[in-house]
Amino acid sequence: MPSSSHLIHQPSSVPSAVHTAVPSSAPPPPAQPPEPLRAAALNKAGLPRLFDPGLATTIAYTSSITLTHGPSGTLCYRGYPIDQLGKNASFDEVVLLLLYGRLPTTSRLSTYRAVLAHPNNSRIPPSVAAVISSMPRSAHPMSILTAALAAMTGAHSHLDPSIAGQKVYDDPKNVERAIELTMAVFPPLLAQIHAHTTSQQPPRIIPSATASYTERFLTLIRGRIPSSSDVALLDILLLLHADHEQNCSTSAVRHVSSSGASVFTALSSGVGALSGHLHGGAAEAAIEQLAIIGTPAGIPARLAEVRAGRSRLMGFGHRVYRAHDPRAQLLRRYAIALAERGAADDRLLAVAIELERAARADEYFVSRQLFPNVDFYSGIVYRALGFEPKFFTPLFALGRVAGWLAHWKEYLTDKDRRIARPRQHYVGPAGPLRVVPITERVDDTMGQPWATAPAKL
Ligand code: CMC
Repeated sequence: MPSSSHLIHQPSSVPSAVHTAVPSSAPPPPAQPPEPLRAAALNKAGLPRLFDPGLATTIAYTSSITLTHGPSGTLCYRGYPIDQLGKNASFDEVVLLLLYGRLPTTSRLSTYRAVLAHPNNSRIPPSVAAVISSMPRSAHPMSILTAALAAMTGAHSHLDPSIAGQKVYDDPKNVERAIELTMAVFPPLLAQIHAHTTSQQPPRIIPSATASYTERFLTLIRGRIPSSSDVALLDILLLLHADHEQNCSTSAVRHVSSSGASVFTALSSGVGALSGHLHGGAAEAAIEQLAIIGTPAGIPARLAEVRAGRSRLMGFGHRVYRAHDPRAQLLRRYAIALAERGAADDRLLAVAIELERAARADEYFVSRQLFPNVDFYSGIVYRALGFEPKFFTPLFALGRVAGWLAHWKEYLTDKDRRIARPRQHYVGPAGPLRVVPITERVDDTMGQPWATAPAKL
């Protein structure tokens, strides 16, 4: 395992060139964004419905958790810029900030850690452990995590609205209990999934009762106490991934919980959404892309492939950011600093840096405002911590679960909460068609196979 010592909060160790990507003339985020128009009111006034594929411009929720501002490349949790949080706060402090709206005191932080360490909270329920061990070892860890979280609903039926009653989340104690159980079980859950997919024994070590979330996770996954520099490095990664407003997985959590589903079912849906290669799965795809490119000499051919529309450049582009992704810039600095100490793969990093340079000078990418996102450099840092690409997206989930829970909690008391149910633009037959009895139907497919012909048995 390469050492990543002395990497945290040492900007002087980072070459000055890596700072230059921040545009100084970028407009700052508006202090108070304008009040959005209510679509229902516009519709009532006779205006047609808006067609918005991918909900790219629709505001579906009100939130006071995270602000992203595309033109300036800003990301703030509860008003605090992430680079400042990275310098002056830990992931656990950020979790409490996201969940409760304020940074904790020392005593609040130690109470929180003690609650998470309590065996009643951190023990994986036997039925959930059985689900993990029943999965093929070759399964992707994200598919196992989806199943394990769905199984948590059955293991905690006192928190399932369909068993405990529709009003179970009206009681703030139940909401807090669901949050505690999720945050406490997530590190052991991932450690057990890691052990299962790498054919190792499930973790037996018990982390210190005062350990942070990150230290607890690394202790369980490695079976020994991690170095403080590795803890600090993973902590910053988790912090950068902790929330990102209405991204695909967070919206999935809100969407599913809007029907009154259990918190664990909603989180399981969030994990499912995160696993896709256009979302959290991009980090795994991005490192594979770097490995396939191999050397800087392979970059022109890869860019030509992308320009021709044959595939996308993984780890590039973003729905919100229009100038840069602040998380990618920080991760690039960490990747460079790690490589300088021999702790990260400098061959892959050289390809990544040259790929970024070439793409940013290429008209295709410039005109579409495409640049590295959080998933472009994160894999190089995860690898420096000893993780295989298959485990990159679970690591993303390890951080993002804090954001999912904060949004779930916020949404429970949202006065605009309604079941998520978009409208469609119907383009099928107008009808009404007459249903011909099966014996009278003729094959009018002219011998062509049906588009969705059933498989031959
Ligand atoms: N490579 C090549 N072309 C791209 C890329 C890319 N990575 N991203 C967008 N484009 C093109 C796209 O083909 C389209 O071109 P045209 O106007 O000629 O049709 C244009 O840029 C706009 O793309 P879009 O699909 O409308 O953009 P979007 O906002 O719907 O998608 C995105 C955002 C992140 C899904 C997309 O940029 C993408 O697929 N990136 C690669 C996957 C990736 O890195 N995902 C991680 C996202 S950040 C972290 C996270 O959410 O987990």
